[in-house]
Amino acid sequence: MSPTSPKPAPRQLFVTTALPYANGNFHIGHIMEYIQADIWVRFQRMQGHTVHFVCADDAHGAPIMIAAEKAGKTPQQFVADIAAGRKPYLDGFHIAFDNWHSTDAPENHELAQAIYRDLKAAGLIATKTIEQFFDPDKNMFLPDRFIKGECPKCGAKDQYGDNCENCGAVYAPTELKNPYSALSGVTPVLRNSEHYFFRLSDARCVAYLEQWTQESGHLQTEVYNKIKEWLTPVESVDGSAVHGLADWDISRDAPYFGIEIPDAPGKYFYVWLDAPIGYLASLKNHFGKIGVDYDAFMADPATEQYHFIGKDIITFHTLFWPALLHFSGRKTPNAVFVHGFLTVNSEKMSKSRGTGLDPLKYLSLGMNPEWLRYYIAAKLNSRNEDVEFSPEDFMARVNADLVGKYINIASRSAGFISKRFAGLLGEVSADGDALLEHLRDALPLIAELYAEREYGKALRETMLLADRVNEYVDQNKPWELAKQAGMEARLHDVCTTCIQAFRLLTTCLKPVLPALAEQVEAFLKVAPLTFVNAALRMDAGHPIGDYKHLMQRVDTKQLDALFEAPALPEPEKILPGGEPIAPLITIDDFAKIDLRIALIVNCEAVEGSTKLLRLTLDVGEGRTRNVFSGIASAYKPSDLVGKLTVMVANLAPRKMKFGVSEGMVLAASHADEKAEPGIYVLTPSAGALPGMRVR
Ligand code: MSP
Ligand code: ZN
Repeated sequence: MSPTSPKPAPRQLFVTTALPYANGNFHIGHIMEYIQADIWVRFQRMQGHTVHFVCADDAHGAPIMIAAEKAGKTPQQFVADIAAGRKPYLDGFHIAFDNWHSTDAPENHELAQAIYRDLKAAGLIATKTIEQFFDPDKNMFLPDRFIKGECPKCGAKDQYGDNCENCGAVYAPTELKNPYSALSGVTPVLRNSEHYFFRLSDARCVAYLEQWTQESGHLQTEVYNKIKEWLTPVESVDGSAVHGLADWDISRDAPYFGIEIPDAPGKYFYVWLDAPIGYLASLKNHFGKIGVDYDAFMADPATEQYHFIGKDIITFHTLFWPALLHFSGRKTPNAVFVHGFLTVNSEKMSKSRGTGLDPLKYLSLGMNPEWLRYYIAAKLNSRNEDVEFSPEDFMARVNADLVGKYINIASRSAGFISKRFAGLLGEVSADGDALLEHLRDALPLIAELYAEREYGKALRETMLLADRVNEYVDQNKPWELAKQAGMEARLHDVCTTCIQAFRLLTTCLKPVLPALAEQVEAFLKVAPLTFVNAALRMDAGHPIGDYKHLMQRVDTKQLDALFEAPALPEPEKILPGGEPIAPLITIDDFAKIDLRIALIVNCEAVEGSTKLLRLTLDVGEGRTRNVFSGIASAYKPSDLVGKLTVMVANLAPRKMKFGVSEGMVLAASHADEKAEPGIYVLTPSAGALPGMRVR
């Protein structure tokens, strides 16, 4: 059945968003996904349905394990620290998950192992020995992302193990020339390891997925078109039809931060196996807290399950996940809703760094979170399309539509009700009734649009209604009626009509503007607004509160501050009258200098010298270098051990009084050290690895 076809209330829904990797804070792309799902959840609740809306941190995997090691923390502590930072974002943007959990929680360990056992019993687990790169220094198999080398196609250096950023070639890590481990710099060796596979190529899986992906309502058309190529039979060399679905490698070898595979010592589930199971684990954990029977809920055919995700993780959710659930005898999703990516000022977002729009900065500038909810909703439709945040457009839509059209209706009428009619509503006459009737008639369409995730259309329809109300205000001019003798009753009638209309419009906007709607409910002294009670009206004599301005306009200064680069040093702090710039060189001149990120493995004082420190540097060559540096006046050896810096790696070795110096460390200083004392050793930004070239 289509997720949007009407079903009798109350339905019971289980809704999730993708589980964010626990290796960084939220960026604006995450917030967009949560806002999209949160609006839908709030809408469904306003229809009288029961919704359980959960999420969790995606805690496992090699990148998180490695990041934790770098940060000097256990992976558990590392992900706990990330989790501790989630609340200000979620509360700040009114994103009301019922539960936030972790894929490393006991519920997930149990569920992942149970699902695996069920798949195994169904004959869908196979093992195969594969050859993989192993880092003999770190004593671990290397994930593709941590193997680098020269592109087998174009020869570009320092390319990742899966594809070349220079020529776009896609290859296996074993095809790289001169491969090295990005973790230790050593040359990896090939080793055999037994891996566990989910047999997606099994005819049962292929047949099931062909059916599931096509069944109405499960997938958006454009999403189905994207993934159907995986299911289309392709000709093999011998002419027999072979399916596009390959068996899926679900195991990783220790050391790995993940869930142990039952009866397979030293083997862990690949993070993408247990990540979506985290949806179920979070629900189960939630039910434990509120006293609902998880097994009964999931076994109930009336339960509906929906996942909101972004376009980059479609295959995991539309092929692997339904198959995993179905063949382990579990409920499968009713639909997977895929959205595009948010870009800011046409910039593509980096997965790790986000964009120029920092959600916490937005909040700390006192910008209203509901402006962002409104703007994002206005740009969203039900399709897998990218969404662009443009500051000018943001300001125009919020100021012109939200404040100019909607808020304006209350601000132009509520004052008269308080001042002239003791805060009591009056009767509505025929023309007002006709207007309100028009608004009420539009509610089912607007509800339908929310259900279909056509938020942009829902808001456009709502603003058309607001236009109608504003026309009515302009025709009746309450501010003039207020000055005319004998027009008291008409003034009361017109302002009452406006307030009744404002209540209906607030209902239409409530999924998007939950906090504002709550303020309006308090001001109008009405029960929480829903689509079920929307048709009700406030009686003549109903008291309302004093109107306080409900929403400010966006100020350009706020937007300027939001996108302003981090503060530069004060002009007077920039070095005055420094050294003249050296004569021009060409790029080829510069290219002769091989600058590398170096790890300061050791640092010690040099006996007999007050100026020099002896540094032991690792630039990923499989050996260390000895470098003398004249920085003893500025640094103690212990300040530098374990830090990264930049060195000239192809400087001819120089014999000095204390030994041979095999390079030079870069440091900043004033030409006249007396005028501006101090030496500053250069440090790369976080994330740079020893051996990386600086260019
Ligand atoms: N951990 C996986 C998901 C596991 S789900 C069982 C993951 N995490 S993520 O942090 O990289 O992304 C989380 C969600 O944010 C995904 O749905 C992803 O598509 C979405 N977005 C990431 N960047 C985005 C934008 N720029 N715009 C909108 N959504 C984006 O993938
Ligand atoms: Zn290449």
